[in-house]
Amino acid sequence: MKTSLKIAMITSECVPYAKTGGLADVVGSLPQALQALGHEVIVVMPKYSSIDAEKFDLQRRFDSMGVWMGNFLEWCAVDEANNEGVATYFIEADKYFRRDGLYHDANYNDFGDNPARFGFLTRAGLQLMRDLDFAPDIVHVHDWQTALAPAYLKTWHWDDPVLGGAASVLTIHNIAYQGKYDAGVYPYLGLGWQNFHADTFEDFGAINFLKGGIAYADALNTVSPTYADETRTPALGYGLAPYLNDRGRDYSGIVNGVDYSEWNPATDSLIPANYDAFYLSGKTKCKRALQERFGLDISREIPIVGVVSRMVDQKGLDVLAAAIEGIVRDMAVQFVVLGSGDKGLEAFYGRLPLAYPGRIGSYIGYSNELAHWIEAGSDFFIMPSRYEPCGLNQIYSLKYGTLPIVRATGGLEDTVEQYDEATGDGTGFKFYDLNPGSIYSTVGWAVSTFYDRPAHMKRMIQHAMAQDYSWEKSARQYLQLYEQAMDNKPG
Ligand code: ADP
Ligand code: GLC
Repeated sequence: MKTSLKIAMITSECVPYAKTGGLADVVGSLPQALQALGHEVIVVMPKYSSIDAEKFDLQRRFDSMGVWMGNFLEWCAVDEANNEGVATYFIEADKYFRRDGLYHDANYNDFGDNPARFGFLTRAGLQLMRDLDFAPDIVHVHDWQTALAPAYLKTWHWDDPVLGGAASVLTIHNIAYQGKYDAGVYPYLGLGWQNFHADTFEDFGAINFLKGGIAYADALNTVSPTYADETRTPALGYGLAPYLNDRGRDYSGIVNGVDYSEWNPATDSLIPANYDAFYLSGKTKCKRALQERFGLDISREIPIVGVVSRMVDQKGLDVLAAAIEGIVRDMAVQFVVLGSGDKGLEAFYGRLPLAYPGRIGSYIGYSNELAHWIEAGSDFFIMPSRYEPCGLNQIYSLKYGTLPIVRATGGLEDTVEQYDEATGDGTGFKFYDLNPGSIYSTVGWAVSTFYDRPAHMKRMIQHAMAQDYSWEKSARQYLQLYEQAMDNKPG
């Protein structure tokens, strides 16, 4: 393999500029890790109106760049910023990105023009590489939004002097979101009807972006080995399992790394007190501050279970909703919940503090600071996910000595080690069936461990905080995947 690769990522979100979920964390830190290993990475993303150009010191790179969409020539501008050493480019196209929200409006209605918006982003990203004369060895794209890139490379740019040498890699962060739209948009995307068939983009007459990405990418992965296995089955493949299976060993799972410069209790500047595995008294301070902030009874003797989550079907918070009141009635435990999304769940969790004053606190909305406070101040962190491609919060929890209580699925299965009551080994508490009863009994197991087996708690906290999910290991696995993609690329 070449000692230094040129890698271009196109993405719909990236920390610190725009984030709705873990995708942004990943694309905000994997490039730095690859650069640290001696490779050159650029990132291309939209210039959403929520991005503060001044704060992030965006500089104009191109006043106008022409992008061919089907038979239309569209125009955009391009800005540039330095994201901790990674050149990041922003596609400015007011008709597509100058509005509130990344994917949907304030009422969670998807924007009707999303296929055109993200098709355009992808095509503009490739055009930009040509205008920059950046000839990538790898074009790495993420989720349905940018999943057209492999097809563009193979149908339009295969003999292009800048892009012709690029192999493509697609990472699936969540297979439930596929970008399935009326085929009316297909001509605008400019992929040619000859490429619209059941093995590529066509999906019961509609266009399916992710399906096309799976067909055209030179190699692909998802974000944990267990989720890679699960998506190969009808239950969690959301209709795409056969196409993933067709790709055989070109499809694999790589667990996400996390950015410990942001998520480390020893250095975290957002939390009330710092601590590490040898000096845990800071964690007690964080717990007290959390109880104060959420109006909970102040006591270090009562365990707190934290939740930080998008309130969507995937996360299983509806099942937790059916269990939480019984738990709080029967056990001496507190909950702190942070999240937003589904209106019914927002209303439910929003009013719990009124029904259980001093016992349950909640904040409906998005707050990075509170996310850090909850990771630091809680004793346990619960994720009752229906499915979880990787999950980052449980990995953050490990580092904060906040033991995860998780459904054993996807990345949760791969990153949390089950508690062994005989020895005190393990890093968290796992349950297998998703129903209120198993949530109740597993929280009960954690709570009884807190009260009855403090030596085990201590041992697990030490073991959890010693886990290392820094990016270097995962970045090396991505390099192997890139190599595989370059081998697979047709000559
Ligand atoms: P997903 O990407 O499916 O939402 P992950 O666990 O991979 O799940 O990543 C979620 C990320 O989003 C974490 O960094 C988490 O802290 C953050 N997050 C989710 N909801 C909120 C919220 N309401 N406020 C602040 N951060 C949030
Ligand atoms: C998706 C998944 C989540 C994963 C994240 C980053 O949002 O839901 O499990 O951690 O992508 O890969």
